Amino acid sequence: MQINLIKKYFSQELTKLDEKIKKNKNLPLSAIQYDAIDVASSMQTLLKGWPTIGLKVKEVENKIKKKLNVKNAVMVNSGGSANFLMLYILTSPYAKKKDKIKLGSEVITPAVTWSTTVGPIIQNNLVPVFIDVNLGSYDIDVDLIEKNITKKTRAIMLVHPLGQSCQMDKIIKICKKHKLVLIEDNCESIGAKYKNKSTGTFGIFSSISMYQSHHISSVEGGFVLTNDNYYADIFRSMRANGWLREIINKKTKKKFINQNKSINQSFLFPYIGYNFKPTDFSAALVSKQIDKLKIFINKRSKSANFLIHKLKKYNNYLILPKTLKHNFHSWFTFPIVVKKNKFFKKKELEIFLKKVNIDTRPIIAGNIARQPFLKKFKFSKGKLINSDLVMDNGFFIGLHHKLSNKNLKYIVRAFDIFFNKFNK
Ligand SMILES: Cc1ncc(COP(=O)(O)O)c(C=O)c1O
Repeated sequence: MQINLIKKYFSQELTKLDEKIKKNKNLPLSAIQYDAIDVASSMQTLLKGWPTIGLKVKEVENKIKKKLNVKNAVMVNSGGSANFLMLYILTSPYAKKKDKIKLGSEVITPAVTWSTTVGPIIQNNLVPVFIDVNLGSYDIDVDLIEKNITKKTRAIMLVHPLGQSCQMDKIIKICKKHKLVLIEDNCESIGAKYKNKSTGTFGIFSSISMYQSHHISSVEGGFVLTNDNYYADIFRSMRANGWLREIINKKTKKKFINQNKSINQSFLFPYIGYNFKPTDFSAALVSKQIDKLKIFINKRSKSANFLIHKLKKYNNYLILPKTLKHNFHSWFTFPIVVKKNKFFKKKELEIFLKKVNIDTRPIIAGNIARQPFLKKFKFSKGKLINSDLVMDNGFFIGLHHKLSNKNLKYIVRAFDIFFNKFNK
């Protein structure tokens, strides 16, 4: 009964949040994905008295495993934590000999990415090597990878940017040829595919983010994916203080118990751990969103295609997003790079859009090699011409599942008004 009251209350209140979007009063970068049923389900974990890691986490892990066709999905408290754990394990004593990354090794990664793609490389005493990206698709420029491989290169920390898969055939070939470990930062691209295979299932490990503004959201949250059961158990344990209780493999569990008979099993710590635990409270919020992921992505795709179709007349001024061959695009945002021209600067277009309630943001973190946090650490980079252009002349507008035809027409009209100035 009470839970129905919660549902009723939240469905009224949450629709109020969407009113501004409906009326074009505010076109934000993202819109909430959870509904009143999701909120009630989350609340129920509080009412049951066990909102921390538990059955709901298991439920969403199983759903993600099935959806992406991967053997293990380990939920953690953020995509950044997932990135950290993946690199930690590979540099730790737990790494298998063939995967082990020695301290000081170089890790190739794209220059246009997020701070916590790069931070974990450095935090694990490795050296990032930044490679330029392609314009329009924003994936790593595969042709530049081999030119930047040195004797010290051991891994590629790939990023599938903004819902788009990288060119996996070529990347896998390079990894095989140079014996590089492939790790995928798939934080922005859940649901994307390359030749019908889900991104995040090509490398040894991959990460997903369910941060508030992403396709699906547990407010904060993420996953490590892996087909390797040995590593999966270590991830499970390590996210939760290094506890025995998270280990699934019965033989491993038994071995640790037998070797440590004097220690109480409930507080037995076989692995060094962190507290990167997810909660049932947030897993319950996202569970039904996972079932709706396909619907969300279809909606985003339709909006992206509409905008591309209507804005392509401004091709002389704007680099619009594109989908690469072999890719199923799980549209994340709508990135635009302003070409160098004599009529206007990116800033003027952004200011204009903001005035008419259309929110904008930089494309990921721009050329990450220019971010101040890197100044105190060792890194190397190739020429980053496109990444600089992305940072200086790029921005994105929101592309979420709640954009209506009315919103989309309004956005196109805003661009028409801006560009009409030059056609007079
Ligand atoms: C490419 C990339 N990596 C990592 C992250 C970190 O994810 P989280 O915010 O869940 O820590 C993000 C966040 O948006 C991202 O875009």
